[in-house]
Amino acid sequence: MDTTAGRWLAPGRVNLIGEHTDYNEGYVLPLALPLGVTCTATTRADGTVRVRSRQAPGDSVETTAVDLGVAGWSEMPAWAHYPLGVIREFVRRGHEMHGIDLDLDGTVPIGAGLSSSAALSCSVAIALRDLFAPSVTTAEIIDIARTAENVYVGVPTGVLDQSASMLCTEGHVLFLDVRSGEYRQIPFDLDRFGLELLVFDTGSPHHLVDGEYSRRRAECAAAAAELGVPFLRDVRDPAQVEALADPVLRRRARHVVTEDARVLRVVEQLRAGADPRVIGPILTAGHASLRDDFEVSAPALDTAVETAVAAGAHGARMVGGGFGGSVIALTDRENARTVTDSVRKAFADNGFDAPCTFSVTPAAGAHRLPAENA
Ligand code: GLA
Repeated sequence: MDTTAGRWLAPGRVNLIGEHTDYNEGYVLPLALPLGVTCTATTRADGTVRVRSRQAPGDSVETTAVDLGVAGWSEMPAWAHYPLGVIREFVRRGHEMHGIDLDLDGTVPIGAGLSSSAALSCSVAIALRDLFAPSVTTAEIIDIARTAENVYVGVPTGVLDQSASMLCTEGHVLFLDVRSGEYRQIPFDLDRFGLELLVFDTGSPHHLVDGEYSRRRAECAAAAAELGVPFLRDVRDPAQVEALADPVLRRRARHVVTEDARVLRVVEQLRAGADPRVIGPILTAGHASLRDDFEVSAPALDTAVETAVAAGAHGARMVGGGFGGSVIALTDRENARTVTDSVRKAFADNGFDAPCTFSVTPAAGAHRLPAENA
């Protein structure tokens, strides 16, 4: 194995169910997308760190591992904070970093709620691990990538996206208990059942940096405190949340508690080998909960969900943090065209930009690409 250069790939994700549960120490059920970020890395003898992205030509950033974060951080292009934040976090944890060229290229649509940022951070993190810090575990990589986003980019995400990018496997959804870190791969064979999982990227970018995401986190923490539990994950009986006096906190808590229950129901069905069509209504119920109780949906997302279901999809829901981004829809293969056309038409009728639509199957998590492709 070349210890001076190579190519690494980390995928984006969609979450089948389990939204806004990660920072409540609950359950999530993502799958990796066949779209990702490739990091081509070559070590350098001169101590320079140079980062380039094919999505931002002309924006090459040069610094040194020692200077990182000291000089010019705020003047650097925003995308560069992800890879450089990852290097800073390795350094902060005591790992020696050296000069390196990082060339990034991504296929995950940016701002679509499909975790392009986690794909970027994780691709860089596994390249640095393999070249400079081979003892770092997968759990640490997830933590390094998440911390880089939280601290150096300033987005207060949970651990869903980085876990999905690192742990997902081809043909499976990842059932992750965020509290314990325990996970299980659950077969999700759409082809065998004549199904397709469609993604509609609405093109209305989601913004996690603005205050809404952190506000939701704070509301969840406040609801848990009022209910006398460490996290909303600990609410055993959904009826308990109805006792919350504040209607906003009550709605937020209701979403999280019912969403955890939905993840468990979907897992139960899939593990029993059920036809995935049965999970459709659970997905749609998850969307209603995000729309009405958690209030993170957006008109284009609601239109996509309602139209897909009306056109015969078994279930549909927004994915990711919300306020824009993407919708997934589970449909029969032979009905996928009709569902797609109906959503496109509804978007045109409502004055929304045409969505970008594609069909996905569960892909592999982050890995080094074989040398022949390097
Ligand atoms: C974003 C965050 C995740 C998670 C989701 C909502 O994608 O990055 O940590 O909280 O929103 O499920």
